[in-house]
Amino acid sequence: MTRILHLSDTHVSATGRDGDGVDAIAALERMLYDLRHVPDLDLVVVSGDIADDGSAAGCAAVRARIGEFAARRRIPHIYSTGNHDDRTGFRDALGSGHIGADGTDIGKLIDNAGDLRAAVTPVGGLRVITLDSLVPGETHGVVDERQLRWLSGLLSSPTEVGTVLVFHHPPLRFPAIPNVKRVVLQNIDELEDVVSGTDVRAILTGHLHFQASGFLGGVPLWVTPGVVTRIDTTAERHLVRGVLGAGATVVDVTEPTAPTFHLLHARDPRAGEEVYVYDALTGADVAESEPAPSQAATASHRGLHGSPAAHSRGGYR
Ligand SMILES: [Fe+2]
Ligand SMILES: [Fe+2]
Repeated sequence: MTRILHLSDTHVSATGRDGDGVDAIAALERMLYDLRHVPDLDLVVVSGDIADDGSAAGCAAVRARIGEFAARRRIPHIYSTGNHDDRTGFRDALGSGHIGADGTDIGKLIDNAGDLRAAVTPVGGLRVITLDSLVPGETHGVVDERQLRWLSGLLSSPTEVGTVLVFHHPPLRFPAIPNVKRVVLQNIDELEDVVSGTDVRAILTGHLHFQASGFLGGVPLWVTPGVVTRIDTTAERHLVRGVLGAGATVVDVTEPTAPTFHLLHARDPRAGEEVYVYDALTGADVAESEPAPSQAATASHRGLHGSPAAHSRGGYR
């Protein structure tokens, strides 16, 4: 069995807080503390938006905490880029993104990588591949042609246990949540062509800050919730409502029924507390017309925002 801890969207900035004022370091530390009893982990993966501000300092703060968690278990920790990350900041703090239990860089980057952070590492008999779906300045993602060719070449040789792909932007369509379409992976069909019929056992993604699953080319695909905040999809369809409450996933890859995805929520007494509500199209902060009775004090919670212009606009964090 290979057991993976899947985290995403830590959003730690150089100051430790995300653009909405949430204490991202505290969210990560709470999540890791609440994961302390998960047995027999072989690997930690983090599927992007490591740093909220793209900074090396933000990435380093995440690496320090997850690295300590991984070192205690003597397991590697592997990171991919997200839309909030900057490739230079990511590289300076995380190298290839594939880090051994002893802190050494164990990833083999794509040939002539330049800034691209796509890499592969064997973990036991499992092949772990990170893709770099970051499009600078954009919220959506793309796995470019060069990575698709590289991935196709790797997957032409199957491995003992199979392959897990890790990247940020889910290649999923959500008919019930139309505003998600423009922020997910944009070249879904091209990636599906490469993955279909290969030894890929699971695709692990983040970005949406809510849990979801689907298939790509017959391969189970998972979206793990965010660590810094959760997006509460009970909001009206044109709104994006962010609330406190970290989540993480335990993925078992090689059991007979694998992959299985088991969700854990941090024991945060403030979980569900509103952080922001904005219009998905305009990015403007909005006051919901029908707040739940338990959220009648929403106005005071909005102090987490800072000023309305304080956080980046245009889609999912
Ligand atoms: Fe993201
Ligand atoms: Fe995010």
